[in-house]
Order: sequence, then structure tokens, then C-alpha cells
Amino acid sequence: MGVTASAPAKVILFGEHFVVYGEPAIVLAIDKRAYAKAEIRSDNKLFFRSLNLKLSGFFEDGNFRAEEGDPKEARVRFEPLKCAVDQVLKIFGRNIGLNIEVNSTVPVAAGLGSSAAVASAVTAAVGALLNVKISREDVFRISFEAEKFAHGTPSGVDPAISTFGGVLMFQMDTGFKPIEVKADIPLIVGHTGVGRSTRVQVSKVRSVKERYPQIFESMRETARIIVLEAAEALKRGDLETLGYLMNFNHALLYGLGVSDESLEWLINASKKAGALGAKLTGAGGGGCMIALAEGGNVERVLEAVQRAGGHAFIAKKIDEGVRIESN
Ligand code: MEV
Repeated sequence: MGVTASAPAKVILFGEHFVVYGEPAIVLAIDKRAYAKAEIRSDNKLFFRSLNLKLSGFFEDGNFRAEEGDPKEARVRFEPLKCAVDQVLKIFGRNIGLNIEVNSTVPVAAGLGSSAAVASAVTAAVGALLNVKISREDVFRISFEAEKFAHGTPSGVDPAISTFGGVLMFQMDTGFKPIEVKADIPLIVGHTGVGRSTRVQVSKVRSVKERYPQIFESMRETARIIVLEAAEALKRGDLETLGYLMNFNHALLYGLGVSDESLEWLINASKKAGALGAKLTGAGGGGCMIALAEGGNVERVLEAVQRAGGHAFIAKKIDEGVRIESN
């Protein structure tokens, strides 16, 4: 008998990278989820299996042994999850063995928050299995620790949205608040197929900041204005303004050097097909772009991004964050 929990992927609508330096970002949970099933073992081992990545292995007495897939990759993927499980076990007050099986519909290393969604789902599943009183704030805190393990200096925006869902305005100092969005936000997500590392892209931005501090300061201020105007446009359901703001935001990210040819290709294809605006989403350097379109243009933009070679889908905003699926 096990417990399964799930948590959603996300797209950052506005403010990625600048959020790491304390600026606000707007992020939206989408209808792709990561699932984690937890069960108790009869020994003290911590066994992880990822069905979608075809990796497995276990931790025993501080050592990791891979069973399936590339051992280095398995370790990199499972260590942050072990960090999350250890924290739940600490609350539980006992060291026991567990099997954790992950299955995710979220593309990995694509800027859609797959690692945070998996960490939130694992935390919630283990908490529910052990009957540990664990609030959403706890799930957020624990999956944030797992993200730090995985990415170095994350802002916390990814674990926040995978835990709480909906549309959030997130800021490191002040936390997050939901944004009431009445209108539909018809978004096309296009995956370039180019995998990338959040850690590498974040450190690239840090070098730009160090080399050109004054320029970075003014970009950062512009990013803040874009996010604040976008929050108002979202509340009004003003898609045309949102499109412009996405283009402005992408120009900043391009300036930071986190776009690449594959992203520009899909972004241009979406705009030629009539998108109101488009930008990269997440850390960049490959991964995904998003485009905003209206009415009949939604399908047209989707097809254009697909024709340009992107793995594209229409993302639906969802309100629910982490949840228990079954006991
Ligand atoms: C990653 O989804 C978004 C970044 O802003 C990094 C972070 O906020 O942790 C690039």
C-alpha cells in the first residue's frame, strides 16, 4: 500500500532571472503534473525509481548505488529528492526505509519547473504516507531546500507555484500572493528540444551583472515595471498589453544572453503566425518559449511553432497545486 501525490508544472509569464535578485515575477501553474508514489520498505534503504527518466537506485548508509540508467545522472536526480525525504523523516522522528516512484508528464530541463514539481509531490506523498502533519507551507519550504540542492541559488518561485498552484506574484523578500485572473490566457508552449541547466543560466546572468552593473541595474528596474504592469493587465484581461509586455521582457532576457537560436526560431515563428507576444520562459538557453494568442490564432500559432520544429502544446492554467491522489 502506498500513497500517491502530484504537483503541477509552471510557466513563468514575467520576471525570470530578475526574480533571483529580489524583483517580482508572475508565474502560472499549468495542466501538466509530476506524480510520486511512496511506500514503506521492510529495511532501511531509500529506493528511488523514475519511470519517465528510466533511472533507479538506492541510498544506504550515506552511499548511493544506481540500478538502472546512467549512475551519475541517477545520483544528480535523486539526491535533491533524498534531501526532501530526509526532512520529512526528521519531522516523523524515525529513520525508516522507503520506495519512491516518480512519474512525470513534465518535460525535464525545459524551464517548466519539473524538478520542483517532483520535489513537492515526493514531499507530500511521504508526509501523507507517514501521517506526518505537513502543511502546504512545509511542502514549499522542504521542496525549496531540494531545489537549492539541485540548482544552487534558486529564488523559490518554482517550488512556490508547484505547491500552491494558480497564478502568483512571487518575490523573494515578501513571499507570494495570488493574482485574480478572470480571463482565459491562451498560451502556446513550445519546447525547443534543447536541454539546459538552470544553474548554468543563472550563473551566466550573474557574470553579466558583475561585468555591467549599471546596465544590469536599469534592466532590473525595467523588469520590475514590466511585472507590475503585467499584473494589472492580467486582472483586466488585457491580452494586447500582455503581448507587448512579453516582448519587452524577452528583449531583456535576450540582452542578458539567456536566449539562443532555437528559442529565437520558435519565437519568430509564433509572431509571424500572429501571436500577440512571445518570450522564453524559465532559465532559457534552450528549453521552452511561450506565445500568447487570441481566438482563431491560437491553433495557427500552435501549428506554426510545431512546423518550426518545436514540441508545442496549449497550456491551460490550473488552480490546484500539490495534492494527494490516492491512499
Ligand atoms: C527558473 O525557473 C527561473 C529562474 O528565475 C531561476 C529561479 O528563479 O530560481 C531562472
